[in-house]
Amino acid sequence: MERLQKYIADAGYTSRRKAEDLIVNNHVTVNGNIVNTLGYKVNGNDIIAIDGVILQKSNIKEYYLLNKPREVICSVSDEAGRKTVTSLIDTKSRIYPVGRLDYDTTGLIILTNDGEFANLLMHPKNKILKTYVAKIDGILNEEDFKKLRKGLLIDGRKLTIDNFKVKALDKQKNTSLVEVTIHEGRNHIIKKLFGALGYDVKKLTRIKYGPLTLDNLKSGEYRNITNKEIKELKNYLIK
Ligand code: URA
Repeated sequence: MERLQKYIADAGYTSRRKAEDLIVNNHVTVNGNIVNTLGYKVNGNDIIAIDGVILQKSNIKEYYLLNKPREVICSVSDEAGRKTVTSLIDTKSRIYPVGRLDYDTTGLIILTNDGEFANLLMHPKNKILKTYVAKIDGILNEEDFKKLRKGLLIDGRKLTIDNFKVKALDKQKNTSLVEVTIHEGRNHIIKKLFGALGYDVKKLTRIKYGPLTLDNLKSGEYRNITNKEIKELKNYLIK
C-alpha cells in the first residue's frame, strides 16, 4: 500500500506536490470514487484515474524485496507447475526476479518491472556484494580456510571470496554454518564453491544484497523497496 500522491508521482504523471493539488481539488478517483484526502492509500490492484483518464500501471515502476521460501522457483512461470516468486507478490504488473536463487535456496530476492534497473543490477561489470549463510555437511578446517582466503577455481574461473565468517561448528551433527560474501552472480555458485572443498550445502539463505538486508521479513513476506534504497543501490553501483 502506498499514498495516493506518491503513486501518481511514481507513475511519472506529475510531481508529488502537484499530485496533492489534484487530489484535494477532486480530480482523482480510485476505483471510480473521488478521493480528496491526502492520507488515502492504494495498492497495485486499484484503478486510479485523473480527470477520468486511467493512470497506466505499466508506467509505474514497482520494486519489491521478497524473502523467498524454499520450493519456490525464481521465474515468472513454470511448466512443471511449481510455485513462482512472482505469484507471491500482490500486483497486476509484469514483474520478474532480478537474478535467481535456486528452488531450495531461501532469502533475499528483488522483483521489479523496471527492466533498465534489473539489467543494471545483473550486469557483470556491476559487482554487487551478496551475503549468504550456508549450512554445510562437514567441519571446515584450516586447509579450507586457506583456500577460501585465496579464492578457488570454479569451472575454470577464479572465484574470489570477499568475506567469510564461521558462525558455528557443530561437531556432533558434523555441520558448519558459514557466512560468505561474494560479488559474483554465477548460477549455483555457493554450492559449487563448497562442492569444490568437498562439502554439500544442506541449507542456503541469502541475507544481504548490496545495501539491502532481509531485516525482519519472514519467509514468504515481501515489502516495497523505498526510493531511498533505490538511490542507495544506484550509488552503490557507481562506486
Ligand atoms: N549460490 C547457489 O548455489 N545457489 C543460490 O541459489 C545462490 C547462490
